[in-house]
Amino acid sequence: MLPAPILDIVGLRKAYKDNLVLRGIDLQVRPGQLVCVIGPSGSGKSTMLRCCNRLEEPSAGRIVVDGIDIMHPGTNLNQVRQRIGMVFQQFNLYPHLSVLSNVTLALRKVQGHSSEEARRRGLRALEQVGLSEKAGEYPAQLSGGQQQRVGIARAIALEPKVMLFDEPTSALDPELVGSVLAVMRDLRAAGMTMLVVTHEMAFARAAADHVVFMDSGLIVEEGPPSQVFDAPRQERTQTFVSRYTQGA
Ligand SMILES: Nc1ncnc2c1ncn2[C@@H]1O[C@H](COP(=O)(O)OP(=O)(O)OP(=O)(O)O)[C@@H](O)[C@H]1O
Ligand SMILES: [Mg+2]
Repeated sequence: MLPAPILDIVGLRKAYKDNLVLRGIDLQVRPGQLVCVIGPSGSGKSTMLRCCNRLEEPSAGRIVVDGIDIMHPGTNLNQVRQRIGMVFQQFNLYPHLSVLSNVTLALRKVQGHSSEEARRRGLRALEQVGLSEKAGEYPAQLSGGQQQRVGIARAIALEPKVMLFDEPTSALDPELVGSVLAVMRDLRAAGMTMLVVTHEMAFARAAADHVVFMDSGLIVEEGPPSQVFDAPRQERTQTFVSRYTQGA
């Protein structure tokens, strides 16, 4: 039997006024899985991720994170958000804080750890993304790829149950993309559960356990990378994937 999903999205709908941008999404991410979401611009990928920690308010549907129904009126959203790490295209680091302080801020202010404990956890997270030696520097002294790895360290320091990534490498110069993807692969190897929206098709093909193709607010096709990239069953998947694999 498959283990229960860490993230379970059922019948998710989201409308902005009369624009229905998510039209019934069902998606499960199981423990330790890396699930990649691909699809054209405007298909609803970011909206789906943002609904998962209610940065956007779903119009209908159920979202269960590690057994907790985050749509339930009694649910403590702040607690839920600590279980869901989020990494965006923009790093949003505080420029006036050191790398380590960026990572430890929520550990201290939100999770209430002592300074020493926050420091210990923060340094461990920085080590996981290969940036221990940058702990005392400031974001402006780092490359974009390093800044994004600090963003990942900040999220994993809180020991989330699942990590959501929304195009984490899209703002990076091409030569910096690889270091961030490598950290994501390491996280996967360490057992982290991840849902990753990406345009990095080579990464999705090589690293994902499961690939989801979204178009117009629906999951058009999902399956192992070998299916979605090499033998897509839907014409829309084929069109999208061939555009990318031909290097467009
Ligand atoms: N705050 C908002 N208000 C109104 N419409 C929105 C809002 N956010 C997103 N939309 C609309 O929802 C649709 C889906 O947007 P979304 O950002 O989820 O797409 P996406 O798949 O992430 O695209 P991209 O690949 O360009 O990031 C788009 O038509 C967009 O215009
Ligand atoms: Mg998006």
